Formats: sequence, structure tokens, C-alpha cells
Amino acid sequence: MPLDHDAANAADAVLSGLRPYPVAITTKAGEKLGGLISLSAGSGSVLHEAPRVQISLAKRNLTHDLVRESGVFAMHLLADGDAETRAKSFAIIRGLGGRSGRDYDKIAEFDTKPGVTGSPILLDALSYVEGKIVFELDIEESHLFIADVVAAERLQRRPRLTIGSAWADLGADWTAEYERNLIHEFNAARVQRGLPEQLPATPQ
Ligand SMILES: Cc1cc2nc3c(=O)[nH]c(=O)nc-3n(C[C@H](O)[C@H](O)[C@H](O)COP(=O)(O)O)c2cc1C
Repeated sequence: MPLDHDAANAADAVLSGLRPYPVAITTKAGEKLGGLISLSAGSGSVLHEAPRVQISLAKRNLTHDLVRESGVFAMHLLADGDAETRAKSFAIIRGLGGRSGRDYDKIAEFDTKPGVTGSPILLDALSYVEGKIVFELDIEESHLFIADVVAAERLQRRPRLTIGSAWADLGADWTAEYERNLIHEFNAARVQRGLPEQLPATPQ
């Protein structure tokens, strides 16, 4: 149910920023590799010895289709640190989070190794888990996936990159392109939720 303007702002103040770590999700379905950036990932179990990971992927995204087809994915945290480390993390965010891989191979530009699930592991990431999906929930605009963790590795000993620290350095051009794409992503979600599409704000 849509909220009025003030209530929507109050809800945003409660809900936004709850998951500050951008993650790179990759998968392999048949011969097709794919991946995207997400802020919606989290732990999916309280059990230390039998961990689960949860992710939410918008139906509009190619990676959503590939993950549903393969039933597996790798979820990477990104590294903070010196300028070179941050530049590699920003390359992952720009390469996977800005544009759909429907018409080109997004993964080709990165150094990878195959994980135990076949998902490409990004070697410049901080760490990763690989998951095999055990539950999937249709939430209209997205699917929520819960997966058993079947492999995990720390690739570097550094701090985790937060999205707050990344935004300023991702560059105005990339951020503007991302925000233009977001308009289409939000409208696709509105259609899937049975809500009217919205036009982008007219520049002043
Ligand atoms: C910071 C950030 C957070 C994002 N969070 C999500 C998310 O939680 N779920 C999702 O499906 N897409 C998310 N996206 C959008 C996808 O990464 C983006 O649409 C991507 O280009 C999809 O690529 P694909 O069509 O190749 O899968 C996010 C992007 C960024 C930059």
C-alpha cells in the first residue's frame, strides 16, 4: 500500500542504510556467467556450524534469472584499505552494478577462479561464501533466496567496504548513470507491485 510523502520519508529514515555493505553476487548457469551488486544480502541462520546466506534479487535483473536457473551463487564482500585496494573494489561495483549483462559478458574483465558451485569467484574481493539455494520466496518485484553455505574463503585481511564510503569515490558520471538506470528499476518494481509508474523528475 503506498504511503503519503511524510510517512514514506519516515519509513526511509528507519529502513535505509540497515545493510551498509555492498556485495557482489555471481553465478554460472550453463555456460553463462553473470553478476550484480546488492545491498540486500545478509546472514540466513543463527547456526555457526550450518550457516545460511540470504539475498534478494530484482526480477528485472539478468542475475536473478541466472541464479534461479543455476540454484547457486557466490556472495562477495568488498575490501576497503589503500587507494589500490579501493580502486579494485570500485571497479567491481562499477562493472557489476551499473549496467545489465544481458548483452555482454560482465565477468570477463575480472580475475576469477571457479568456485565449488561453478560460480566465478572474484579474486579482488575481500571474502566470499558460496551458496546452494534451499528456499525461494516470490515477493512480486524480487525473489528472496536462502542458501546453505557450501564454501567460504577470506581472500584478504582488510576492513569491509561500506557503501557510504564508496559513493563519494565512484565518480559523478557513474553515479548519474546508475541513478538513471534506477528509475527504470523502480518502475519495473512498481509494475510488479500493481502501482503506477512514475516519470523522472524534470531537471530545473
Ligand atoms: C549499491 C547498489 C545496490 C544494489 N542493490 C541491489 C539489490 O539488492 N538487488 C538487486 O537485484 N539489484 C541491486 N542493485 C542493482 C543491480 O546491481 C544492477 O541493476 C545490475 O546492473 C543488474 O545487472 P544484471 O542485469 O546483469 O543482473 C544494486 C546496485 C547498486 C549499485
